[in-house]
Amino acid sequence: MDTFVIEGGRRLTGRVRINGSKNAALPLLAAALLTDQPVKLREVPNLADIRNMLRLLGELGCQRTDAPDDGSFGDGTITQRVTDESLSHARYEVVRTMRASICTLGPMLARRGFARVSLPGGCAIGERPVDLHLRGLAALGAQITLTGGDIIAKVPPGGLIGTTVFLGGPFGSTVLGTANIMCAATLAKGTTIIESAACEPEVVDLANLLNKMGARVSGQGSPRVVIEGVSELGGADHRVIPDRIEAGTYMMASAVTNGDIVLENCPVDSLLAAMHCLDTIGVHVEACNAGSANIPTRSAHRGCEDPMRCCVRVTSDRILRPVEVTTQPHPGFPTDLQAQLMTVLALADGNSVITEKIFPDRFLHVAELSRMGAKVIRHGPTCVISGVRKLVGAPVMASDLRASAGLVLAGLAAEGRTIINRVYHLDRGYERMEDRLRALGASIQRVDEKEVVGVEALSA
Ligand code: EPU
Repeated sequence: MDTFVIEGGRRLTGRVRINGSKNAALPLLAAALLTDQPVKLREVPNLADIRNMLRLLGELGCQRTDAPDDGSFGDGTITQRVTDESLSHARYEVVRTMRASICTLGPMLARRGFARVSLPGGCAIGERPVDLHLRGLAALGAQITLTGGDIIAKVPPGGLIGTTVFLGGPFGSTVLGTANIMCAATLAKGTTIIESAACEPEVVDLANLLNKMGARVSGQGSPRVVIEGVSELGGADHRVIPDRIEAGTYMMASAVTNGDIVLENCPVDSLLAAMHCLDTIGVHVEACNAGSANIPTRSAHRGCEDPMRCCVRVTSDRILRPVEVTTQPHPGFPTDLQAQLMTVLALADGNSVITEKIFPDRFLHVAELSRMGAKVIRHGPTCVISGVRKLVGAPVMASDLRASAGLVLAGLAAEGRTIINRVYHLDRGYERMEDRLRALGASIQRVDEKEVVGVEALSA
């Protein structure tokens, strides 16, 4: 198993280009199941979750047609085409490694009239039920049963029929649930209205791809999405939006290292809540002309030609101020940046409060940050963070994707050496993070956990 060894305390400077979004790309890849024509996606990130999704889609009869001969991932352009529609079982062995497998359910059901997808279990960040997905598909007329841990969904003889579907749940809407219902409704008879739809940019990107394929989706990005069913969908060519969570993570890396980082291909339009929060803390995100980091304008949003692919410079005041933040569905502060923000606030001058409203148990990073000297008290879904002057390097354990990112930021800021075990969690969502941080001046190495003892001995 791989481990990161970080020597903290280095100021990060330089440029980094934000990759295509993992959470946008996963349902976009699954949308290829809706047609027998080729679907080409550009700027797909080379991540463990994406490779797992491609493997799953292969098992479901959807083949990659442009895979490089050497078996590598290639440059991020991925063309897929369905060659066998008889394979409709997403097995537990695959689904348990990646919950996003659930987004094959809606497309397979709509196109093939049948889907069998293993029920994803809970994960490190909480229970994560899929009741809203199933309620939405049932409202369209799907017959759903649960057998041996699998969801079995069938289209009745009359086909799926458009209707009004309410997707609100105890924690707001559901991102992948909205994706599933939207995909299923594209091939239903009549009009479907999704009320309380997720407004996340990844849902908008999926709607845009579906429309290129011939669907009629409108209202994406608002809580009311309308889908007029069509009889079939065709191929398309689509560029994945940049990853707002990766961008937010690098912004916070600049914040904790008193850095000066330019982010290219940055989707500032989808990061307004995070940027507002960072501004209050004393972290400045300013637009810069595409080729130059030296000409900042006052507001990143106003200064950008394309606010979804902006060039911004991130700097911070020496003293970080505390804030009170609640994670919320988009356009609120994203839960996927909560752990990284906690690291920033661990170093702020005063007491901050974070309340987690999407995944109330998503706090596995708290105990690990505490090992590095952070002062955090948790009461249910709320944490009070009392800023300290410095964090101190320690061996810590990555537990889920974003918690791992929070620990990497802590390691970059800390005095001394931090060893982060189980970085496979991080590899699910950040492409070559150690190489990119090293290019910005960080001291970070990926080593096999067995080598860590050697690293320790060398420095003893
Ligand atoms: N929920 C239900 N019932 C459902 C579905 C969800 O009660 O049927 C609850 C969840 O338990 C949670 C809330 O609703 O409390 C929101 O969950 P949602 O369904 O929106 O999450 P998701 O679609 O499974 C995606 C991202 C997550 C991100 C969440 C929230 C992907 C592949 N995953 O998950 O990303 O945290 O939306 O924004 O798009 C990550 O990248 O690290 C990650 C976990």
